Amino acid sequence: MPSHVRIGIVGVGAVSDFHHVPGIRIDSRASLTAICDPNEGLLKQRQTEWGGIAAYADYRQLAEDPNVDAVIIATPNFTHHPIALECIRHGKHVMCEKPLGLNFTESAEMYRAARDANVRHMTAFTYRFAPSMRYVRHLVSSGALGTPRHFRSQRFLDWPETSWGWRQIKSLAGAGDLFDMTIHRIDFSQDLLGPIRSICGAVAQFVPRDKTADGKPCPPSEVDDWSSLIGLFASGAVGVWEGSTLMKGYNNGGVGYEWAEVNGSEGSAAYQLTDPNNVLIAKNGRDMEKMPVPKEFLVLPGSPRDPSEGKPSTVFRYDLVWEFVSAIVEERDAVPGFHDGASAQAVADAVLQSFEERRWIDVSSDPG
Ligand SMILES: NC(=O)c1ccc[n+]([C@@H]2O[C@H](COP(=O)([O-])OP(=O)(O)OC[C@H]3O[C@@H](n4cnc5c(N)ncnc54)[C@H](O)[C@@H]3O)[C@@H](O)[C@H]2O)c1
Repeated sequence: MPSHVRIGIVGVGAVSDFHHVPGIRIDSRASLTAICDPNEGLLKQRQTEWGGIAAYADYRQLAEDPNVDAVIIATPNFTHHPIALECIRHGKHVMCEKPLGLNFTESAEMYRAARDANVRHMTAFTYRFAPSMRYVRHLVSSGALGTPRHFRSQRFLDWPETSWGWRQIKSLAGAGDLFDMTIHRIDFSQDLLGPIRSICGAVAQFVPRDKTADGKPCPPSEVDDWSSLIGLFASGAVGVWEGSTLMKGYNNGGVGYEWAEVNGSEGSAAYQLTDPNNVLIAKNGRDMEKMPVPKEFLVLPGSPRDPSEGKPSTVFRYDLVWEFVSAIVEERDAVPGFHDGASAQAVADAVLQSFEERRWIDVSSDPG
C-alpha cells in the first residue's frame, strides 16, 4: 500500500490554484512533484509560487515522469480525454476536472481505460464535498426525509458579459453554462436520488461576448449562457434545474447564489453554497429551520482540515484531494469516479439533444 503520493498537475490555471494546490498542501500524505502547462510565463510563475518542482510544456513528458504517481488534470475541456488516456497508459492515477470529456462517448472511454488499467479515477465534482450537501445526502439515504419526491437546483452567477476565452468556443468547451455549472448539479442530484432516466432540457444565449475584458474584439461566443432541465429519476422522483451566468444581482463577491433541495414525503432539506456549514431542514408541516451541520459532516473522515478556518464556501474544495489521495493509499475506488463523470455527461448531452429536437430524451448512461 503506497504511503506517499507524488502528484503532477496538468493545467496550472485558476482551478489548480484555487482548489487543488491548497488541497495538496494540507495533506501530509501527498506532495506536488511536477506541473505542466504550455503557457510558459504562467508555468514559471507557478514554479516560483508552488516550490521547486519539475515543469513541462507537454503533458506527455509529465505522464512519463517516474516521480509522479497521480495526476490532476485541470485544463480546457477538449484536452481532458487525450491527457487522461496518456496518463492512464503510463499507469498514473487520475483526477480530472469536469466536464470529464466533450461528450458521453469520450467520458465513457476514459472510464473504461482507467478501470481496465486498474488505476484510481476521480471526477472533480466539487459540490459533493460541501458539508451541507454531505449532510443532505445523509438525510436522504437514512430515510429522514421519507420518500424523496422533488429535487430543485438553482445556480446563478452575475458575471461580466465579456469573453469567456476557451469557455465560449464550442469545440474547446462543448457547451457553456450547461457543461461549466449545471453539470455539477446534475451530478449531485444523481448522487442524492439515483439515476436520471428521462429529461426535457433547454439552453439559451443572450450575449455575444465578442469583446475581451479590456475591450479588444474577439470571435463571438458559440455557447449557452443559461441552461435548464426538468427530469424524471428512475426512483420516480422529479427534478428541476436552472443555471445562468447572467443573473443580475447575484454577483455576491463572485460566488453567486446556489440553492439545492430535496422534498420528501416526511420533510425537506436544503443546501446553500454561501452557507455550507449550515443546513435548512423542515419536518412535516413545519417551516424550514437553519441548523448547524453536525460536526462529523464538516470534513471528510480523517481530513486534517480545520472547518473553522477560511471562507466556508471555498475551503471544502480542498477535500477533493483528500478523497483522491485516500483512495490511492487505501487502494479503493475514489468517489465520484469517472463513471459518475460519464453519467452526468450523458444527461448534459441529452439536454442539448432535447432542445435541438424539442422533445423528451430517455437517458442511457451505461459506460460499458
Ligand atoms: N470543479 C470545479 O468546481 C471547477 C472550477 C473551475 C474550473 N473547473 C474546470 O477546470 C478546468 C480548467 O479550468 P480553469 O478555470 O482552471 O481554466 P484556466 O483557463 O484558468 O486554466 C487552464 C490552464 O490549462 C492550460 N492548458 C491548456 N492546454 C493545455 C495542455 N494541452 N496541457 C497542459 N495545460 C494546458 C492553460 O494554459 C491554462 O493555464 C476546466 O475543465 C473547468 O471546467 C472546475
